[in-house]
Amino acid sequence: MFAERVISGMRPTGLLHLGHYHGVLKNWVQLQNEYPCLFFVADYHALTTQYEDPKIIAQASLDMVIDWLAAGVDPEKAILFIQSQVPQHADLNLLLAMMTPLSWLERVPTYKDQIEKLASSGKDLSTYGFLGYPLLMSADILLYRANRVPVGEDQIPHVEFTRELARRFNHLYGKEPDFEQNAQIAIKKLGGKKARLYKELREKFQEQGDKEAVEKAHALLNETQHLSAIDRERLFGYIDGGGKVILAEPEALLTTASKMPGLDGRKMSKSYNNTITLRDSEQEISKKIKAMPTDTQRVRRNDPGNPERCPVWQLHQVYSDDACKKWVCEGCQTAAIGCLDCKQPLIDKILEQQKPMQEKIKIYSQNPNLVHKILADGAQKAEELANQTMRDVRQAMGLVKN
Ligand code: TRP
Ligand code: SF4
Repeated sequence: MFAERVISGMRPTGLLHLGHYHGVLKNWVQLQNEYPCLFFVADYHALTTQYEDPKIIAQASLDMVIDWLAAGVDPEKAILFIQSQVPQHADLNLLLAMMTPLSWLERVPTYKDQIEKLASSGKDLSTYGFLGYPLLMSADILLYRANRVPVGEDQIPHVEFTRELARRFNHLYGKEPDFEQNAQIAIKKLGGKKARLYKELREKFQEQGDKEAVEKAHALLNETQHLSAIDRERLFGYIDGGGKVILAEPEALLTTASKMPGLDGRKMSKSYNNTITLRDSEQEISKKIKAMPTDTQRVRRNDPGNPERCPVWQLHQVYSDDACKKWVCEGCQTAAIGCLDCKQPLIDKILEQQKPMQEKIKIYSQNPNLVHKILADGAQKAEELANQTMRDVRQAMGLVKN
């Protein structure tokens, strides 16, 4: 099969906050050490809902990438780019559109909900582009034959849609008319000894259903470096009789919902106006935390409180060590500490975490060319991968001769 690959995109919606940091970015930073990864700014996706007011998209995209870099996403390890700078996304979107049933798009659970929700805010989303949102997302994923897609729960239906589309594509186009002949040619390319072994293993599987033989054959193909990707696919397919897999079916890697509570105890989210952004200054952070509501039953300094009723305690869960948490619990329940005392170690911890990030943000913001260079390199690498897929897709869809 195709190599392991992770892809994920983020819409440029404004400054990133601690919810993004704990929920998404830390996950990306870990994944980049484990798999080849592509992370991109989904600026086309932003246009599907923001087409009337697109002015901020370019700046928001740049700022967002700077926040990624500050959080430790590393361009030496992962490919970072902006969707609209890799034209193959639009190209594949168009080709897939030809074989995407309208009803599949209309049935995506988020579609009608979103239209209704956003209509109340005055947005008219009865556009072709908005209907095609899940298709565009499929193109993003299938373009790189990525098999793992870290996303939040709300995006799972889109990944599922992508799987079905890949299956439909492979079903429609995966059977080459001269598949048998091409497979034979590919076997010859393996060279005498390996070719013989491959044929033996194939027979073992086809006649005796020997699963181990399939695995051995897969290993054989994987270690044969000089085989082109498409020939390798043919030979994978030739064993189990499945034809050729042109597009890989991806799997969602569910990003466990960020436990990050906001300043009011609800989930941290821009729409609740309860965030601390990665760029908040020392003063802003300190002010926001000091203004946090606490246990409402702790009216006076001498009233004992209960951390379970307090959003500040939730933040301690994220940031504080056991000793500090013990100090909070005891101090709160006995009124030995005041709420401002309780908040101070939290302020210190958050500032300590933000400091190195903000230094990086400053450097990149003052040198936007550094970021443009990273993104240009990323787009180029992405294009190289994308072109391999596009060649196979064009061929499969009859636009170029075999
Ligand atoms: N739709 C995703 C979101 O709103 C962003 C996105 C676009 C994406 N293309 C993608 C995520 C491809 C993963 C893979 O969060
Ligand atoms: Fe909340 Fe801490 Fe005040 Fe207790 S002492 S109510 S945990 S802020």
